[in-house]
Amino acid sequence: MNWYSTRDQKHDDGLPLREAVMRGLAPDGGLFVPERIPQVDLGEARRRAEQSYASLAGYLAGLFFDGDFDPQLLAREMEALYDFEVPLRRVGRGRYTLELFHGPTCAFKDFGAGFMGRMAGVLGREQERLVILTATSGDTGSAVAHGFYNVPGIDVVILYPEGKISRLQECQMTALGGNIHPLRVAGTFDDCQRLVKELFADEAFRARRQVTSANSINLLRWIPQAFYYFYGYFLWQRETGGERPTIVVPSGNYGNLAAGMLARRMGLPVEGFVAASNLNDVVPEFLRTGIYRPRPSVQTLATAMDVGAPSNFERMLWLCGGDPDALRDELIGYRCDNAGIRRTIDALYERCGYLSDPHSAVGYAASVAVDKPGFYLSTAHPAKFGEVIASVTGRRVQLPERLETLTRREQHFDPLEVDLRALEEFVARV
Ligand SMILES: Cc1ncc(COP(=O)(O)O)c(C=O)c1O
Repeated sequence: MNWYSTRDQKHDDGLPLREAVMRGLAPDGGLFVPERIPQVDLGEARRRAEQSYASLAGYLAGLFFDGDFDPQLLAREMEALYDFEVPLRRVGRGRYTLELFHGPTCAFKDFGAGFMGRMAGVLGREQERLVILTATSGDTGSAVAHGFYNVPGIDVVILYPEGKISRLQECQMTALGGNIHPLRVAGTFDDCQRLVKELFADEAFRARRQVTSANSINLLRWIPQAFYYFYGYFLWQRETGGERPTIVVPSGNYGNLAAGMLARRMGLPVEGFVAASNLNDVVPEFLRTGIYRPRPSVQTLATAMDVGAPSNFERMLWLCGGDPDALRDELIGYRCDNAGIRRTIDALYERCGYLSDPHSAVGYAASVAVDKPGFYLSTAHPAKFGEVIASVTGRRVQLPERLETLTRREQHFDPLEVDLRALEEFVARV
Protein backbone atom coordinates (compact mmCIF):
# COMPACT_ATOMS: atom_id res chain seq x y z
CA MET A 1 0.00 0.00 0.00
CA ASN A 2 1.23 3.51 -0.80
CA TRP A 3 0.75 6.57 1.41
CA TYR A 4 -0.44 9.93 0.13
CA SER A 5 -0.60 13.46 1.46
CA THR A 6 -3.96 14.76 2.70
CA ARG A 7 -3.33 17.61 0.21
CA ASP A 8 -2.65 15.37 -2.81
CA GLN A 9 -6.21 14.99 -4.04
CA LYS A 10 -5.28 13.49 -7.39
CA HIS A 11 -3.07 10.83 -5.80
CA ASP A 12 -0.07 11.90 -7.84
CA ASP A 13 2.74 11.31 -5.37
CA GLY A 14 2.35 8.17 -3.30
CA LEU A 15 5.23 6.92 -1.20
CA PRO A 16 5.92 3.40 0.04
CA LEU A 17 5.62 2.80 3.77
CA ARG A 18 9.29 3.08 4.68
CA GLU A 19 9.73 6.45 3.02
CA ALA A 20 6.48 7.87 4.40
CA VAL A 21 7.45 6.78 7.91
CA MET A 22 10.94 8.25 7.65
CA ARG A 23 9.58 11.55 6.35
CA GLY A 24 6.88 11.86 9.01
CA LEU A 25 5.18 14.78 7.26
CA ALA A 26 4.40 14.68 3.50
CA PRO A 27 6.65 16.85 1.28
CA ASP A 28 3.78 19.32 0.62
CA GLY A 29 3.23 19.79 4.38
CA GLY A 30 0.16 17.53 4.54
CA LEU A 31 -0.27 14.39 6.66
CA PHE A 32 0.10 10.88 5.30
CA VAL A 33 -3.09 8.87 4.66
CA PRO A 34 -3.51 5.42 3.09
CA GLU A 35 -4.18 4.92 -0.61
CA ARG A 36 -7.37 3.03 0.36
CA ILE A 37 -9.08 2.24 3.64
CA PRO A 38 -9.16 -1.54 4.15
CA GLN A 39 -12.48 -3.14 5.12
CA VAL A 40 -12.65 -5.29 8.23
CA ASP A 41 -14.42 -8.64 8.48
CA LEU A 42 -16.18 -7.94 11.80
CA GLY A 43 -16.68 -11.66 12.54
CA GLU A 44 -12.96 -12.31 12.17
CA ALA A 45 -12.11 -9.21 14.20
CA ARG A 46 -14.42 -10.36 17.01
CA ARG A 47 -12.88 -13.83 16.98
CA ARG A 48 -9.40 -12.29 17.22
CA ALA A 49 -10.45 -9.87 19.98
CA GLU A 50 -11.76 -12.82 22.00
CA GLN A 51 -8.27 -14.38 21.77
CA SER A 52 -6.34 -11.26 22.81
CA TYR A 53 -5.70 -7.62 22.03
CA ALA A 54 -2.46 -8.63 20.32
CA SER A 55 -4.28 -11.05 18.03
CA LEU A 56 -6.78 -8.37 17.00
CA ALA A 57 -3.95 -5.87 16.42
CA GLY A 58 -2.10 -8.41 14.25
CA TYR A 59 -5.20 -8.93 12.08
CA LEU A 60 -5.97 -5.21 11.67
CA ALA A 61 -2.34 -4.18 11.11
CA GLY A 62 -2.08 -6.86 8.41
CA LEU A 63 -4.86 -5.12 6.45
CA PHE A 64 -2.67 -2.01 6.13
CA PHE A 65 0.82 -3.46 6.10
CA ASP A 66 0.53 -6.93 4.56
CA GLY A 67 2.93 -6.06 1.72
CA ASP A 68 5.45 -4.52 4.11
CA PHE A 69 5.78 -7.03 6.95
CA ASP A 70 5.71 -10.78 7.10
CA PRO A 71 2.41 -11.74 8.87
CA GLN A 72 4.15 -14.05 11.32
CA LEU A 73 6.65 -11.39 12.26
CA LEU A 74 3.80 -8.91 12.70
CA ALA A 75 1.95 -11.36 14.96
CA ARG A 76 5.09 -11.94 17.07
CA GLU A 77 5.75 -8.23 17.43
CA MET A 78 2.14 -7.58 18.50
CA GLU A 79 2.33 -10.35 21.12
CA ALA A 80 5.47 -8.79 22.58
CA LEU A 81 4.09 -5.26 22.46
CA TYR A 82 0.52 -5.61 23.69
CA ASP A 83 1.09 -7.79 26.73
CA PHE A 84 -0.97 -5.58 29.08
CA GLU A 85 -4.69 -5.47 29.82
CA VAL A 86 -7.13 -3.13 28.02
CA PRO A 87 -10.20 -3.28 30.26
CA LEU A 88 -13.64 -1.75 29.86
CA ARG A 89 -14.76 -0.56 33.30
CA ARG A 90 -18.16 0.42 34.54
CA VAL A 91 -17.94 3.83 36.18
CA GLY A 92 -21.09 5.13 37.80
CA ARG A 93 -24.53 4.13 36.63
CA GLY A 94 -24.50 2.85 33.07
CA ARG A 95 -21.27 4.60 32.05
CA TYR A 96 -18.29 2.75 30.72
CA THR A 97 -14.70 3.63 30.05
CA LEU A 98 -12.05 1.87 28.02
CA GLU A 99 -8.88 2.23 30.11
CA LEU A 100 -5.96 2.77 27.77
CA PHE A 101 -3.37 3.42 30.46
CA HIS A 102 -2.12 -0.01 31.46
CA GLY A 103 0.92 0.00 29.15
CA PRO A 104 4.56 0.64 30.12
CA THR A 105 4.26 4.43 30.51
CA CYS A 106 0.67 4.43 31.78
CA ALA A 107 -0.79 6.48 28.92
CA PHE A 108 -2.69 5.73 25.71
CA LYS A 109 0.37 6.86 23.76
CA ASP A 110 1.91 3.46 24.44
CA PHE A 111 -0.37 1.96 21.78
CA GLY A 112 0.99 4.14 18.97
CA ALA A 113 4.55 4.84 20.14
CA GLY A 114 5.16 1.19 20.99
CA PHE A 115 3.88 0.10 17.57
CA MET A 116 6.04 2.63 15.80
CA GLY A 117 9.09 1.61 17.82
CA ARG A 118 8.80 -2.03 16.89
CA MET A 119 7.81 -1.59 13.28
CA ALA A 120 10.27 1.21 12.48
CA GLY A 121 12.91 -1.11 13.90
CA VAL A 122 11.86 -3.76 11.39
CA LEU A 123 11.69 -1.27 8.50
CA GLY A 124 15.16 0.04 9.29
CA ARG A 125 16.75 -3.35 9.86
CA GLU A 126 18.70 -3.53 6.61
CA GLN A 127 19.81 0.09 6.73
CA GLU A 128 22.45 2.05 8.60
CA ARG A 129 21.67 2.98 12.20
CA LEU A 130 18.70 5.29 12.44
CA VAL A 131 18.33 8.18 14.88
CA ILE A 132 14.86 9.06 16.14
CA LEU A 133 14.90 12.68 17.25
CA THR A 134 12.08 14.19 19.24
CA ALA A 135 11.34 17.16 21.50
CA THR A 136 8.99 16.67 24.42
CA SER A 137 7.15 18.70 27.01
CA GLY A 138 6.83 15.53 29.09
CA ASP A 139 4.65 12.64 28.02
CA THR A 140 5.56 12.01 24.39
CA GLY A 141 9.22 11.56 25.29
CA SER A 142 8.55 8.78 27.77
CA ALA A 143 6.20 6.90 25.43
CA VAL A 144 8.72 7.20 22.58
CA ALA A 145 11.61 6.19 24.85
CA HIS A 146 9.81 3.05 25.95
CA GLY A 147 8.51 2.31 22.47
CA PHE A 148 12.00 2.29 21.00
CA TYR A 149 13.91 0.97 24.00
CA ASN A 150 16.33 -1.79 22.96
CA VAL A 151 15.08 -1.80 19.35
CA PRO A 152 18.10 -2.96 17.32
CA GLY A 153 19.51 -0.46 14.81
CA ILE A 154 17.83 2.57 16.41
CA ASP A 155 19.05 5.33 18.70
CA VAL A 156 16.63 7.78 20.28
CA VAL A 157 17.58 11.36 21.14
CA ILE A 158 15.01 13.21 23.24
CA LEU A 159 15.22 16.92 24.05
CA TYR A 160 13.36 18.13 27.15
CA PRO A 161 13.40 21.48 28.93
CA GLU A 162 15.31 21.54 32.21
CA GLY A 163 13.08 22.08 35.24
CA LYS A 164 9.85 22.19 33.21
CA ILE A 165 8.71 18.60 33.32
CA SER A 166 7.73 16.52 36.32
CA ARG A 167 10.26 14.34 38.14
CA LEU A 168 8.32 11.25 37.14
CA GLN A 169 8.30 12.25 33.47
CA GLU A 170 12.06 12.88 33.61
CA CYS A 171 12.69 9.51 35.26
CA GLN A 172 10.68 7.74 32.58
CA MET A 173 13.22 8.94 29.99
CA THR A 174 16.45 9.06 31.97
CA ALA A 175 16.23 5.74 33.81
CA LEU A 176 16.49 3.57 30.71
CA GLY A 177 19.99 4.10 29.31
CA GLY A 178 21.05 1.85 26.41
CA ASN A 179 19.86 3.28 23.09
CA ILE A 180 17.85 6.09 24.76
CA HIS A 181 19.77 9.39 24.95
CA PRO A 182 17.90 12.16 26.81
CA LEU A 183 19.19 15.72 26.47
CA ARG A 184 18.31 18.12 29.26
CA VAL A 185 18.11 21.46 27.47
CA ALA A 186 18.87 24.76 29.21
CA GLY A 187 15.78 26.38 27.69
CA THR A 188 12.04 26.02 27.13
CA PHE A 189 10.00 23.41 25.26
CA ASP A 190 9.79 25.86 22.35
CA ASP A 191 13.61 25.98 22.24
CA CYS A 192 13.70 22.17 22.13
CA GLN A 193 11.17 22.05 19.34
CA ARG A 194 12.97 24.75 17.37
CA LEU A 195 16.30 22.93 17.62
CA VAL A 196 14.71 19.73 16.30
CA LYS A 197 13.09 21.60 13.41
CA GLU A 198 16.37 23.32 12.56
CA LEU A 199 18.21 20.03 12.51
CA PHE A 200 15.60 18.51 10.20
CA ALA A 201 15.91 21.53 7.91
CA ASP A 202 19.70 21.04 7.63
CA GLU A 203 19.78 18.89 4.47
CA ALA A 204 23.58 18.61 4.52
CA PHE A 205 23.49 17.09 7.99
CA ARG A 206 20.64 14.76 7.08
CA ALA A 207 22.58 13.52 4.07
CA ARG A 208 25.29 12.34 6.47
CA ARG A 209 23.08 10.89 9.22
CA GLN A 210 19.76 9.08 8.92
CA VAL A 211 17.39 10.95 11.22
CA THR A 212 13.63 10.88 11.58
CA SER A 213 11.06 12.05 14.09
CA ALA A 214 8.51 10.05 16.04
CA ASN A 215 5.93 12.72 16.66
CA SER A 216 2.28 11.90 16.96
CA ILE A 217 1.33 12.70 13.37
CA ASN A 218 3.53 9.87 12.07
CA LEU A 219 1.33 7.31 10.32
CA LEU A 220 2.89 4.46 12.33
CA ARG A 221 1.59 6.09 15.48
CA TRP A 222 -1.80 6.98 14.03
CA ILE A 223 -2.96 3.72 12.42
CA PRO A 224 -2.60 1.42 15.48
CA GLN A 225 -4.77 3.78 17.51
CA ALA A 226 -7.72 2.69 15.36
CA PHE A 227 -7.39 -0.85 16.72
CA TYR A 228 -8.51 -0.17 20.29
CA TYR A 229 -11.80 1.26 19.04
CA PHE A 230 -12.62 -2.21 17.69
CA TYR A 231 -11.52 -3.86 20.91
CA GLY A 232 -13.57 -1.43 23.03
CA TYR A 233 -16.57 -1.97 20.79
CA PHE A 234 -16.51 -5.76 21.25
CA LEU A 235 -16.11 -5.45 25.04
CA TRP A 236 -18.91 -2.90 25.26
CA GLN A 237 -21.19 -4.98 23.09
CA ARG A 238 -20.61 -8.09 25.18
CA GLU A 239 -21.22 -6.14 28.37
CA THR A 240 -24.33 -4.22 27.36
CA GLY A 241 -25.76 -5.94 24.28
CA GLY A 242 -25.76 -2.51 22.60
CA GLU A 243 -25.31 -2.11 18.86
CA ARG A 244 -23.91 1.30 17.96
CA PRO A 245 -21.96 3.14 20.65
CA THR A 246 -21.23 6.83 20.81
CA ILE A 247 -17.56 7.06 21.72
CA VAL A 248 -16.24 10.00 23.73
CA VAL A 249 -12.61 10.99 23.08
CA PRO A 250 -10.65 13.42 25.29
CA SER A 251 -8.86 15.42 22.59
CA GLY A 252 -6.02 17.86 22.04
CA ASN A 253 -4.13 17.27 18.82
CA TYR A 254 -6.95 15.00 17.55
CA GLY A 255 -4.82 12.01 16.53
CA ASN A 256 -6.92 9.80 18.78
CA LEU A 257 -10.24 10.97 17.39
CA ALA A 258 -8.96 10.82 13.79
CA ALA A 259 -8.06 7.17 14.49
CA GLY A 260 -11.62 6.51 15.71
CA MET A 261 -13.01 8.03 12.52
CA LEU A 262 -10.67 5.79 10.54
CA ALA A 263 -11.96 2.73 12.46
CA ARG A 264 -15.50 3.70 11.50
CA ARG A 265 -14.54 3.83 7.83
CA MET A 266 -12.95 0.39 8.19
CA GLY A 267 -16.42 -0.87 9.11
CA LEU A 268 -16.81 -0.29 12.86
CA PRO A 269 -20.51 0.32 13.60
CA VAL A 270 -20.35 3.56 15.57
CA GLU A 271 -23.21 6.00 16.13
CA GLY A 272 -20.88 8.99 16.40
CA PHE A 273 -18.03 10.54 18.35
CA VAL A 274 -17.76 13.25 20.97
CA ALA A 275 -14.81 15.63 20.67
CA ALA A 276 -14.26 16.32 24.36
CA SER A 277 -11.94 19.27 24.90
CA ASN A 278 -10.69 21.41 27.75
CA LEU A 279 -10.68 25.22 27.44
CA ASN A 280 -8.80 24.82 24.13
CA ASP A 281 -12.05 24.32 22.26
CA VAL A 282 -11.11 25.09 18.64
CA VAL A 283 -12.88 21.98 17.37
CA PRO A 284 -16.08 22.18 19.48
CA GLU A 285 -16.31 25.83 18.41
CA PHE A 286 -15.95 24.81 14.75
CA LEU A 287 -18.67 22.20 15.21
CA ARG A 288 -20.97 24.85 16.66
CA THR A 289 -20.23 27.74 14.31
CA GLY A 290 -18.71 26.21 11.18
CA ILE A 291 -15.69 28.49 11.61
CA TYR A 292 -12.26 26.96 12.26
CA ARG A 293 -10.14 29.40 14.23
CA PRO A 294 -6.79 27.96 15.38
CA ARG A 295 -5.13 30.10 18.07
CA PRO A 296 -2.46 29.96 20.78
CA SER A 297 -3.27 27.41 23.47
CA VAL A 298 -4.14 28.25 27.05
CA GLN A 299 -2.90 26.25 30.03
CA THR A 300 -5.37 23.96 31.79
CA LEU A 301 -5.40 21.10 34.28
CA ALA A 302 -5.50 18.62 31.38
CA THR A 303 -2.14 19.84 30.08
CA ALA A 304 -1.61 17.25 27.34
CA MET A 305 -4.76 18.54 25.65
CA ASP A 306 -3.57 22.16 25.61
CA VAL A 307 -3.44 22.45 21.84
CA GLY A 308 -4.73 25.50 19.99
CA ALA A 309 -4.02 24.38 16.41
CA PRO A 310 -4.64 20.63 16.23
CA SER A 311 -2.49 18.99 13.53
CA ASN A 312 -4.92 16.17 12.88
CA PHE A 313 -7.81 18.45 11.94
CA GLU A 314 -6.56 18.04 8.39
CA ARG A 315 -6.80 14.24 8.66
CA MET A 316 -10.34 14.44 10.04
CA LEU A 317 -11.40 16.64 7.13
CA TRP A 318 -9.75 14.26 4.66
CA LEU A 319 -11.71 11.39 6.18
CA CYS A 320 -14.87 13.40 5.42
CA GLY A 321 -13.88 13.91 1.79
CA GLY A 322 -12.86 17.50 2.57
CA ASP A 323 -16.45 18.43 3.46
CA PRO A 324 -16.60 20.50 6.69
CA ASP A 325 -20.36 19.93 7.03
CA ALA A 326 -19.90 16.16 6.94
CA LEU A 327 -17.39 16.50 9.79
CA ARG A 328 -19.86 18.62 11.71
CA ASP A 329 -22.49 15.91 11.27
CA GLU A 330 -20.21 13.19 12.56
CA LEU A 331 -18.94 14.81 15.74
CA ILE A 332 -20.55 16.31 18.83
CA GLY A 333 -18.42 18.93 20.58
CA TYR A 334 -17.98 19.38 24.31
CA ARG A 335 -15.86 21.84 26.32
CA CYS A 336 -14.88 21.43 29.95
CA ASP A 337 -13.26 24.22 31.98
CA ASN A 338 -10.91 23.70 34.93
CA ALA A 339 -13.70 23.95 37.49
CA GLY A 340 -15.57 21.24 35.56
CA ILE A 341 -12.48 19.01 35.57
CA ARG A 342 -12.10 19.41 39.35
CA ARG A 343 -15.81 18.81 39.97
CA THR A 344 -15.70 15.66 37.87
CA ILE A 345 -12.59 14.24 39.58
CA ASP A 346 -14.23 14.94 42.93
CA ALA A 347 -17.62 13.46 42.02
CA LEU A 348 -16.10 10.31 40.52
CA TYR A 349 -14.10 9.73 43.67
CA GLU A 350 -16.87 10.61 46.13
CA ARG A 351 -19.67 8.72 44.39
CA CYS A 352 -17.85 5.82 42.77
CA GLY A 353 -14.51 5.59 44.56
CA TYR A 354 -12.92 5.93 41.13
CA LEU A 355 -9.76 8.01 40.68
CA SER A 356 -9.58 9.73 37.32
CA ASP A 357 -6.80 11.77 35.75
CA PRO A 358 -7.81 15.24 34.47
CA HIS A 359 -7.85 14.19 30.77
CA SER A 360 -10.08 11.18 31.32
CA ALA A 361 -12.25 13.35 33.58
CA VAL A 362 -12.99 15.56 30.56
CA GLY A 363 -14.17 12.38 28.82
CA TYR A 364 -16.44 11.42 31.71
CA ALA A 365 -17.91 14.92 31.94
CA ALA A 366 -18.64 14.85 28.21
CA SER A 367 -20.29 11.45 28.40
CA VAL A 368 -22.59 12.69 31.19
CA ALA A 369 -23.43 15.84 29.22
CA VAL A 370 -24.14 14.02 25.95
CA ASP A 371 -25.79 11.03 27.67
CA LYS A 372 -25.86 8.48 24.86
CA PRO A 373 -25.17 4.73 25.03
CA GLY A 374 -21.48 4.04 24.54
CA PHE A 375 -18.19 4.55 26.33
CA TYR A 376 -15.45 7.10 26.87
CA LEU A 377 -11.71 6.64 26.53
CA SER A 378 -9.46 7.02 29.57
CA THR A 379 -6.11 8.22 28.34
CA ALA A 380 -3.77 8.41 31.36
CA HIS A 381 -3.28 6.65 34.68
CA PRO A 382 -4.36 8.83 37.65
CA ALA A 383 -0.91 8.43 39.25
CA LYS A 384 0.61 10.45 36.39
CA PHE A 385 -1.38 13.46 37.58
CA GLY A 386 -1.21 12.76 41.30
CA GLU A 387 -0.83 16.44 42.30
CA VAL A 388 -4.15 17.48 40.72
CA ILE A 389 -5.94 14.49 42.18
CA ALA A 390 -4.47 15.05 45.65
CA SER A 391 -5.49 18.71 45.56
CA VAL A 392 -9.09 17.77 44.71
CA THR A 393 -9.66 14.58 46.69
CA GLY A 394 -6.97 14.76 49.39
CA ARG A 395 -5.91 11.26 48.28
CA ARG A 396 -2.34 10.41 47.44
CA VAL A 397 -2.32 8.15 44.38
CA GLN A 398 -0.03 5.16 44.58
CA LEU A 399 2.37 4.90 41.62
CA PRO A 400 2.08 1.59 39.77
CA GLU A 401 5.08 -0.64 40.42
CA ARG A 402 6.49 -0.18 36.90
CA LEU A 403 6.73 3.59 37.43
CA GLU A 404 7.85 3.39 41.03
CA THR A 405 10.92 1.30 40.13
CA LEU A 406 11.98 3.88 37.52
CA THR A 407 12.17 6.61 40.14
CA ARG A 408 14.71 4.54 42.08
CA ARG A 409 17.07 3.88 39.17
CA GLU A 410 20.14 5.88 38.26
CA GLN A 411 19.42 8.69 35.78
CA HIS A 412 21.35 9.14 32.53
CA PHE A 413 21.16 12.35 30.52
CA ASP A 414 23.43 14.90 28.85
CA PRO A 415 23.07 18.65 29.28
CA LEU A 416 22.63 20.72 26.11
CA GLU A 417 22.73 24.47 25.50
CA VAL A 418 20.25 25.88 22.98
CA ASP A 419 22.72 25.48 20.14
CA LEU A 420 22.13 23.67 16.85
CA ARG A 421 25.82 22.81 16.30
CA ALA A 422 26.02 21.19 19.73
CA LEU A 423 22.91 19.13 18.96
CA GLU A 424 24.28 18.05 15.58
CA GLU A 425 27.56 16.99 17.14
CA PHE A 426 25.69 14.94 19.71
CA VAL A 427 23.45 13.27 17.11
CA ALA A 428 26.44 12.52 14.86
CA ARG A 429 28.16 10.74 17.78
CA VAL A 430 25.39 8.54 19.21
C1 LIG B 1 -3.33 11.93 28.61
C2 LIG B 1 -3.76 12.46 27.29
N1 LIG B 1 -5.06 12.56 27.00
C3 LIG B 1 -5.50 13.06 25.82
C4 LIG B 1 -4.61 13.49 24.86
C5 LIG B 1 -5.14 14.05 23.57
O1 LIG B 1 -4.94 13.15 22.51
P1 LIG B 1 -4.86 13.69 21.01
O2 LIG B 1 -3.72 14.65 20.98
O3 LIG B 1 -4.63 12.48 20.17
O4 LIG B 1 -6.16 14.36 20.74
C6 LIG B 1 -3.24 13.40 25.09
C7 LIG B 1 -2.29 13.83 24.07
O5 LIG B 1 -1.13 14.04 24.26
C8 LIG B 1 -2.80 12.86 26.34
O6 LIG B 1 -1.49 12.73 26.62
